[in-house]
Amino acid sequence: MMKENVELLLNQQVTHELYSAQLYLSMSAWFSAKGLSGFAKWYYVQSYEENAHAMIIYNYILKTNGRVVLEPIKAPPHEWDSVLDVLTETLKHEEFVTSKIYNIVDVARQEKDFKVDQFFQWFVNEQVEEEDNANKNIGKYESMGMDGKALYLMDQELGTRVYVAPALLTTMEA
Ligand SMILES: [Fe+2]
Repeated sequence: MMKENVELLLNQQVTHELYSAQLYLSMSAWFSAKGLSGFAKWYYVQSYEENAHAMIIYNYILKTNGRVVLEPIKAPPHEWDSVLDVLTETLKHEEFVTSKIYNIVDVARQEKDFKVDQFFQWFVNEQVEEEDNANKNIGKYESMGMDGKALYLMDQELGTRVYVAPALLTTMEA
């Protein structure tokens, strides 16, 4: 049985992941309105991924006989100053999510809940990817995205991203 404080953190993490999905969908809409359909596609896919993260934790709570208690998801912003502003906010948000994941692992270890500790290692690794992606997009934009032609090329490249459901989610749903 999961300790109450661990269960609460897992439920809160479902909300953080669902908020991430909302945030990236809002960013996707902003890019669409700017005519940057490649960036919009990248963020649309990212929103799906965040939803999958939420469902992985949701399924985990149920599988361990925990109780799912959903919380409200706050409204994301819908306006940003520039493309770079969105990319920078994305990195900041992922760093925030990483801190929440680390806290779960930290509390799980204090409570000797090695199942949760072990399970959340997947998220620790995922956050390495998420922060790396956010950093790479900032790097790409700063090195080539400033003029119109380079921005067009970056938009084309980001537009090739396709959604692949995380293997962990498909296993849990089976
Ligand atoms: Fe996530």
